[in-house]
Amino acid sequence: MNQIGIPNLDKKLEASLIADMVKVEELMRSHIQGDYPLVVETSRHLVEAGGKRLRPLLTLIAAQFGDPTNYDIIKAAVCCELTHLATLYHDDVMDDAILRRGVISANKKWNNAVAILTGDYLFSKVSDMLADIGPAAVKLQAKTFERLVIGQIKETQGKSEGLSQIDHYMKVVADKTGSLIATSARFGALLSGAKPEVVEVLTKFGEKIGVAFQVADDLLDVASNETASGKTPGTDLKEGIPTLVTLYVIAANETADKDLIAKLRGPISDQDLPDVISRLRTHNAVKEVQAYLAQVAKEANDLLVDLPEGAAKEGLKNLTYALVNRST
Ligand code: IPE
Ligand code: IPE
Ligand code: MG
Ligand code: MG
Ligand code: MG
Repeated sequence: MNQIGIPNLDKKLEASLIADMVKVEELMRSHIQGDYPLVVETSRHLVEAGGKRLRPLLTLIAAQFGDPTNYDIIKAAVCCELTHLATLYHDDVMDDAILRRGVISANKKWNNAVAILTGDYLFSKVSDMLADIGPAAVKLQAKTFERLVIGQIKETQGKSEGLSQIDHYMKVVADKTGSLIATSARFGALLSGAKPEVVEVLTKFGEKIGVAFQVADDLLDVASNETASGKTPGTDLKEGIPTLVTLYVIAANETADKDLIAKLRGPISDQDLPDVISRLRTHNAVKEVQAYLAQVAKEANDLLVDLPEGAAKEGLKNLTYALVNRST
């Protein structure tokens, strides 16, 4: 592995992506400055805590399929990361999370109102920067954000009549996470002037790896530890949020799992949590989710077949495998 987080990356491409990520970091930090010190402090809290920076990285790699030197690509990459970050401030309120990127969440360090308004502040900063790129960029982000929000609402509302739990889950995951990851790739391809068919392929690829990324994240809620993920394991379980692991356990409906399934149908108490986590970790459902992830990863990489051969295409393929096998 290397600084960028993509195994076996071509050295020249790696150097160019690292140089562009430095520009993304600089622009992001200067862009969140503002007149009101508290909101600058609250938004810096998670910008500086780190994170994987997957979305801006994807924008930069997608831009390799055209001319990657257009500075609007850096701006769009910043907008994708800040949109993502704003949703994390809001998500931690929704999920009552205490830890984010290895530091205390904003809702716990300050309070829910401050966390929500910090997310809104970041959205205002994103709109401001997108307007400089142009109306098409504003529109693309708006449509993406609409999908993302609907995904989050659908998750809290639960499934509608006539839809299976797993189909509902898949739709939620595509909307809340696939949407922005698809758009991160689309921005890079579009602003680099890549061919229209390449833009479409990279958008579809982004959506697919976005779904895989969220399923892997859900797996980490059961399987990871706090030091690796920077989040508290069992947060979804405690909130009673269905994930593919729990849905597979429920669907298998094994007699031996009767009491486990009863618990998984609602929020899990602090007292029950350690036992539920340890039972899930050794459950066959984890292997099934891993097999599903391997299949989605293959489908994502198959989408790339007609793209021009080269370091960027190889980089994307290796990124897919890194994402589905990740532990952070
Ligand atoms: C967390 O995203 C929320 C999901 C969509 C799963 P990331 O796992 O990309 O979070 P950071 O940016 O690395 O902190
Ligand atoms: C969050 O999903 C997705 C979005 C922020 C849109 P999660 O709730 O699983 O994300 P984490 O695990 O808290 O990062
Ligand atoms: Mg969450
Ligand atoms: Mg959530
Ligand atoms: Mg999660």
